Amino acid sequence: MNNAQLLELAKRYGTPLFVYDGDTVRARYRDLFRFIPYPGLRVHYALKANYNPAILALLRDEGAGIDAVSPAEVAYALRLGFPPDRIIYTANNMTDAEFERVFKTGVVMNLGSLSRLKKVAVQHPGATLCLRFNPDVCDGDSAATMTGGDLTKFGILLDDVAEVVRIVRGGNLHIVGLHEHTGSGLQHMESVFRSMENLMKIATRENFPELEFLDFGGGFKVPYRPDEARIDYVTMGKEICRKFTAFCKEYGKDLLMRFEPGKYLVAESGWLLTEVNTIKHNRSRVIAGCDSGFPQLIRPMLYGAYHEISNLSNPGGKPQTYDVCGNICETGDRFAEQRELPEIREYDILAIANAGAYCYSMGGVYNMRSMPGEVLVADGEVVDFRPRESDDALIDRIMGGK
Ligand code: LLP
Repeated sequence: MNNAQLLELAKRYGTPLFVYDGDTVRARYRDLFRFIPYPGLRVHYALKANYNPAILALLRDEGAGIDAVSPAEVAYALRLGFPPDRIIYTANNMTDAEFERVFKTGVVMNLGSLSRLKKVAVQHPGATLCLRFNPDVCDGDSAATMTGGDLTKFGILLDDVAEVVRIVRGGNLHIVGLHEHTGSGLQHMESVFRSMENLMKIATRENFPELEFLDFGGGFKVPYRPDEARIDYVTMGKEICRKFTAFCKEYGKDLLMRFEPGKYLVAESGWLLTEVNTIKHNRSRVIAGCDSGFPQLIRPMLYGAYHEISNLSNPGGKPQTYDVCGNICETGDRFAEQRELPEIREYDILAIANAGAYCYSMGGVYNMRSMPGEVLVADGEVVDFRPRESDDALIDRIMGGK
């Protein structure tokens, strides 16, 4: 979407505003099938990245499945019309009640601990399940988002496979899938291959004779910095295909290959538009103060993540260095620190890029500021608009109608 289109949306709907480009989401989804030309490829969107219902409807209509991580995400995907056999539930540290609630829906449960597996073997002998293993590969765009290796709470250790097989046989469990997720924003193509190999090594006929799919999680990286190279997904996809085809031959059956991207599908489709209301010259810093804040886009503050910012109103302005700050009562409330940007004037509109993944969905109403409105544009038209909650509606919700 170009500057003029974004500015027009800011004018029409007000700021702060999340804008999503449905064409980009659709293109990314279709790209994956081009990059990974394996006939049995299935893409399960990691709904935690962005739960906007219009984005979900678009992906549902494309044929995507869902990677859900809570009972509410499962219920939500079902309500949106995703069939149960296109949903996988990857919980961690789930309660017995949560297990029962989702088990009843017929959605395949992906278990990531020996403890839960043992309980299921006793309480639901004969159950059909998927098992999540720790791939023993560490990668991701921040320490907080690496999910393999020794420091993570996720998955069953590969070393425990013999114990797993014993429990599975004892409970007459049907293991139809094996799963791993290495991390988010995988920096090295090699990590994807190594994790696949580690999972495929234990996915033998002898250990798991009833497999229908292997699920290699999400984590496909997209560039956040302007100078960051895009991964060569064509090369990567070819190698993924080669490895998996060889594995299937050895296993003796063409299994389905699943991936669960979040960022890859939606990150680049979104912008947060915010208006600058205050320019302040402190002794060492020029501060551009906006009408949004870190609870609405927390990645810079939480992970030190870089999000590109453009000044939509003054793109040709003389470059200056700014701290781009929000309206929250904390000093750390910055979208960017010491960032060179075209001169920012009061009432200019800034666009914070790559705001489609893990921004709205990780948002909150700290300082009692409602989350921004959201608009989805596809084929040049606004197809969905969700207004910002009014202050009164927010207060009513907090007071529970009292
Ligand atoms: N599958 C599983 C089991 C996951 O835990 C995740 C992400 C994904 C798939 C999707 O990963 P993706 O393709 O989006 O990288 N809030 C962090 C990212 C947390 C990811 C959590 N799990 C961020 O903003 O960078």
